[in-house]
Amino acid sequence: MTSSRTRDGWLPFNFGAEMKRFFVWRDEVCMRWTAFCFACDHRVASMRSGLVMSHVGTVEVMPPAAAPPVVPVERAPPSRASRKPEQSARYGMETAEETEQAHVRAVIASLRRYRPEALTSNNKRRSDFYQLSLAHQDLLGQPHKDLIKNIDGCILANARFLALVADTASEGIFISEGAAGSEEQQASHAHSHNREDASKVRSTLKQFAREWSSAGARERRAVYDPMLEALEAHFVHTSEPTRTGLHCLVPGAGLGRLVWETAKRGFSAQGNEFSMLMLLASDYLLNHSDAVEQHTIYPFAHSLSNLPARTTALQPVRLPDVLPSDLPPVDFSMTAGDFVEIYGTAEARGQWNAILTSFFIDTARNVIEYLETIHNLLADDGIWINCGPLLWHFEQTPGETSIEMPLDDLKRIITSIGFDMANERMIETMYTDSADMLMQHRYTAAFWTCTKRRTN
Ligand SMILES: C[S@@+](CC[C@H](N)C(=O)[O-])C[C@H]1O[C@@H](n2cnc3c(N)ncnc32)[C@H](O)[C@@H]1O
Repeated sequence: MTSSRTRDGWLPFNFGAEMKRFFVWRDEVCMRWTAFCFACDHRVASMRSGLVMSHVGTVEVMPPAAAPPVVPVERAPPSRASRKPEQSARYGMETAEETEQAHVRAVIASLRRYRPEALTSNNKRRSDFYQLSLAHQDLLGQPHKDLIKNIDGCILANARFLALVADTASEGIFISEGAAGSEEQQASHAHSHNREDASKVRSTLKQFAREWSSAGARERRAVYDPMLEALEAHFVHTSEPTRTGLHCLVPGAGLGRLVWETAKRGFSAQGNEFSMLMLLASDYLLNHSDAVEQHTIYPFAHSLSNLPARTTALQPVRLPDVLPSDLPPVDFSMTAGDFVEIYGTAEARGQWNAILTSFFIDTARNVIEYLETIHNLLADDGIWINCGPLLWHFEQTPGETSIEMPLDDLKRIITSIGFDMANERMIETMYTDSADMLMQHRYTAAFWTCTKRRTN
């Protein structure tokens, strides 16, 4: 659903003791006012630690009719995620709003189901052990029993963290009161998707490790660092204090770390993300973290395959490795929904100074749509910076259109669309893998920068 909006504008709003600026709009479909804080000053963000990102919640504010906008805004405000038609069938809902709400609740329910599901999987291991002959049980011995018991402990720690995400999400801006039944109802409607949802929740724990822990620093250094260096190099003549006037977009933002790193360097930054699970998880981390290494999770506790030692499965990962609120006073926000749907409009033409895509372009059903959207969004002197593989996400997925192509064909199309490519190279990296596993997925990710070809 795309919100139709009227009377958008900036509004000073008393948040606790502080006067802050919120972007306020009226959602004509939900019939409510929503306020987003795009630009929290550093001091307030540090004190309250929850105000960095845009999602401060739906608040009951009635902007005075005559309130003049403090800052004229042309950027698209966060739009709500549009859902695919089959989700309507999945939840048995009528309207787009109901379907969307049902989806949010189902995602929250999947976070809560993690504990029983993961414990049940580990119990299977326990039960298999006790079905062995006594001689084999003796050979595996106490270390094996301890491992299974310790995995229970890891699961409980993960579940405590995910419960915080779920609790925050239940009270957060993604839920409209009474819109679509209880989480339990959604859980039962979504029953057939349990396994898929469970694996997504487990992947999200690994994504937290990649983006927001020191364990993920190696992956981030390999991919994010060259992207950020290219960004700074392109705008080398823009002094740091004026960088805030440069608008950078990160489609497929995941848990928001690359967006945060961009904002940390003084640029205005907006992330865009389609997955509600990612949005709820990043909302929790970005807006509700009080201290560095506040949480401990165990993302590698779910499988005993390819481990060099028991300790690999029990490896703790501490989050976050930096304080998300520790940012200069720049615009920093996230939008929810499909990249092409939100940004593929004529009005968005030339609005962005930089677009950073990390492990994103291969999520397309038709990458040409992504390329055209990026070309349309980019300002004439802007830069598109990409790093990622070509693991076409929808390849051979039943019922989905998917256009796949090798890198050389993709480059030909990029050039035909009107980009000049530069800085091309390949980068060896991993994605959410533990470095000491016996099997690792290594990517050779394609890096490039693109500028719009001048037509005259
Ligand atoms: C492989 S992850 C990369 C995450 C992050 N950029 C990183 O480097 O770790 C791709 C992300 O793109 C999101 N995504 C996929 N299709 C999308 C779309 N059409 N619009 C917005 N986000 C999308 C996915 O939900 C996922 O979080």
